[in-house]
Amino acid sequence: MFNTTSIRADFPILQRKVNGKPLVYLDNAATSQKPQVVIDAIVEYYSNYNANIHRGVHALSQEATDKYEEARQKIQQHFNITKAHEVIFTSGTTHAINMVANGFASLLRKGDEVIVSALEHHSNIVPWQMLCEKTGAKLLVIPMTQEGTLDMKAYAEMLSDKTKLVFVNHISNALGTINPIETIISKAHQVDAAVLIDGAQACSHIKPDLQALNVDFYVTSAHKMCGPTGVGMLYGKEEWLKKLPPYQGGGEMIAEVTFEKTTYADLPHKFEAGTPNICGGIAFGVAIDYLNHIGFKAIEAHEHELLTYATKELLKIPGTRIYGTGKEKTSVISFNLENIHSYDVGTILDKLGIAVRTGHHCAQPIMNYFNIPGTVRASFAFYNTKEEVDVLISGIKKAKQMLS
Ligand code: ALA
Repeated sequence: MFNTTSIRADFPILQRKVNGKPLVYLDNAATSQKPQVVIDAIVEYYSNYNANIHRGVHALSQEATDKYEEARQKIQQHFNITKAHEVIFTSGTTHAINMVANGFASLLRKGDEVIVSALEHHSNIVPWQMLCEKTGAKLLVIPMTQEGTLDMKAYAEMLSDKTKLVFVNHISNALGTINPIETIISKAHQVDAAVLIDGAQACSHIKPDLQALNVDFYVTSAHKMCGPTGVGMLYGKEEWLKKLPPYQGGGEMIAEVTFEKTTYADLPHKFEAGTPNICGGIAFGVAIDYLNHIGFKAIEAHEHELLTYATKELLKIPGTRIYGTGKEKTSVISFNLENIHSYDVGTILDKLGIAVRTGHHCAQPIMNYFNIPGTVRASFAFYNTKEEVDVLISGIKKAKQMLS
């Protein structure tokens, strides 16, 4: 039995009130809340062993380096990655995507094609557009359907020997659709194209096995997974990380520097110039331990129950339209009430202590497809409860009454 009472006790923020009401936090797709063990790890680092890593012979530097490298190994094990040096610490998903896009600038030529999907977050569109502008490569878009899923037939027809790269998110942040990434990856490999999967929205819900997926690049952010902001991961197959040039020059990423020539450090340091987010990396490892302690099977089952219940209750409210109705979806519900702006609904919900996101969710092409300015998005985590769904539903009814 999934014990949300004891889980919720791990999250100090869930005990607070907002506008005099108990907080109902349903903006987990934007960022997750942090359990006490993660907060403690941050305090412990700055209280007890704050030092720069990979640089000092002194005890504190060694301790910080060991903990940081331990975190890299935890990430490696969690995602079933072959080698620890295929894990590059980044400042988050956006940084990781830009590192890969920048690296490919020297490998693409005019006439090459790269494919994104219509379901992407702006961070998985704009860097590739910039890459295409630089190289003359062409950007193709896998179209979406009314259910908010990808048109896989169109994708198969788009692939050719011109295709060099495919970028798709694992789960859509705006709609919650889980994309069929196994098929996307295997089809791309049939034409020798590399694939980058944006896992920012996936890794708090499911545990991807990157060896089984045989993906070339996988990126994610710690803050969606109960870890801190400002830290994330770029996984790249060793052969790709060796081929791509470094993203930034600086300290830590070199083997030898003279004014005539610099040689680069081995992986992962080649991509980790400058002092990293040491504390963030360590806390990312602690967050992964915490999630595994709860267990991803249990997380998936509980969130699925919340999604099913909330969808059923929401559809009972006349004039509600849910966007993203595919069979494979995670605990995100994007919706609108007929003739009412999402922002107005969000503002009333906030007065009731309910946190949801409103607007285009950094996915304007999806909103354009549905011809709407935005949606209200309620996104559930494993620490949410059915009682909170009830509070949401009664808040929406109240908003409807006030705004109609
Ligand atoms: N990408 C985050 C979201 O979907 C910020 O809200």
